[in-house]
Amino acid sequence: MEKASNFIGGEWSIPEGAPKIVSVNPADTRETICVAPDSPASEIDRAVKAARAALPAWRRMPPPQRANIIRRAGGILADRKQALGELVTRECGKPLTEGLGEVQEAIDMAELAAAEGRRLYGQTAPSELPNKLCMTFREPVGVCGLITPWNFPIAVPSWKALHALICGNTLVYKPAEDTPLCGVEFVRVMDEAGLPPGVMNLVHGYGETAGHALVAHEGVSLISVTGSTETGRIIAAECARTSKNVSLECGGKNAEIVLDDANIDIAIEGALWGAFGTAGQRCTATSRLIVEEGIHDELLDRLVASAGDLKMGNGLEPGVQVGPIINEEQAIRVLDYIEIGKNEGAKLECGGARAEGPGLEHGQFIQPTIFTGVTRGMRIFEEEIFGPVLSVIKVSGLDEAIETLNDCRYGLSSAIYTQDVNKAMVAVREIEAGIVYVNGPTIGAEVHMPFGGVKSTGNGHREAGMTGLDIFTEWKTVYIDYSGALQRAQIDTN
Ligand code: UN1
Repeated sequence: MEKASNFIGGEWSIPEGAPKIVSVNPADTRETICVAPDSPASEIDRAVKAARAALPAWRRMPPPQRANIIRRAGGILADRKQALGELVTRECGKPLTEGLGEVQEAIDMAELAAAEGRRLYGQTAPSELPNKLCMTFREPVGVCGLITPWNFPIAVPSWKALHALICGNTLVYKPAEDTPLCGVEFVRVMDEAGLPPGVMNLVHGYGETAGHALVAHEGVSLISVTGSTETGRIIAAECARTSKNVSLECGGKNAEIVLDDANIDIAIEGALWGAFGTAGQRCTATSRLIVEEGIHDELLDRLVASAGDLKMGNGLEPGVQVGPIINEEQAIRVLDYIEIGKNEGAKLECGGARAEGPGLEHGQFIQPTIFTGVTRGMRIFEEEIFGPVLSVIKVSGLDEAIETLNDCRYGLSSAIYTQDVNKAMVAVREIEAGIVYVNGPTIGAEVHMPFGGVKSTGNGHREAGMTGLDIFTEWKTVYIDYSGALQRAQIDTN
């Protein structure tokens, strides 16, 4: 059985006596993927010290040289795309096409971050005084703690790590406890690409133990976390206590609006992919479908028929479209929400139970589930489920659609299907979300664009894109006075 080690100061090791975390294939829980340690605080301390020790040399290395390493990492990821995609599928259950797509996202991110090695632009500005110059530099923040989710076990770490590294930070990375081997393989790639020892350290463990020790550690300057809003708030509070920067990428309750004039075929395909891709386990998943009344009935009939046709199973099998739920605890949570929906008076149109049949006996599979008659105020309208459950809401027109979409504590992704450019532009302006798709599903963000959300989804940061650099750098403002005399700003200018 594979052992997932920690990686500290360039050495792979397992802390003695640490409790064990067993990672299994969620499509067939008889298959153990690896065993990882639940690292104690002493191990986190060792990793933070290694990252601190590596910081001076790494931050001084010219960014184009740092970029060479990141570019090489992108090449290794490309060489191993098939094997890594299969590992993603085995460890977190998503279909292989999605596993491969996720590795591609990391390759793309390497390209984006490496290119930044020859930019990392600052600003220059004139001074209010003669013979004086003002300018800014981006500086690394220091040791960054990265806490990442199981649902994108290669892509999300790449968003965080590659931007953090090109900016000159050193890292302590804690992958999700459900996907430790993906974490190992990602770090192995970085190591083979030539990252100096201590620049990227890996520690496994649960949030309450290893995660907490990392967040509380005084030697860490920044925490970047993707997870639930509840977890994000606990982490942000601890970061406030220990004066750390923190970037949160948390929950979503994303909606797709379909207006009467929409191209119904692509609206249905978008809803199916957005709601049931990754079995609904994306922070960008479509969880609410807000449909104008004229198109509602036809759309619903076709949507329900198509949802029933989706092929479920082990993501390594060709043609599988919907994989398992990550673990039994989460499966129970999703089934509980289905019961809540029924008790609230929503009408179950399809799904609503565990999926059974050949090949599904040993995993946690839940049928694609659609509710209609969902109204504002119901828990299934408001709360993030993180499973294949779609709530359909009928509305009278664009205004009510936007009001319904915005009636939500989260604001990550959104979509509107319409062929009326005027209506689309009103929606783009009025929707309260970090991401708006016009005639595309709520999932599928591209790495060179800012990623993040408003309201309880985040705390004002955007990962990836150019904005990811803002998370992982501090600005340094420099004034250079070449007048040879004392010049007093605000005083000698008049
Ligand atoms: C997430 O679910 O945490 O836009 C990230 C998307 C993906 C990333 C999702 N590229 O759906």
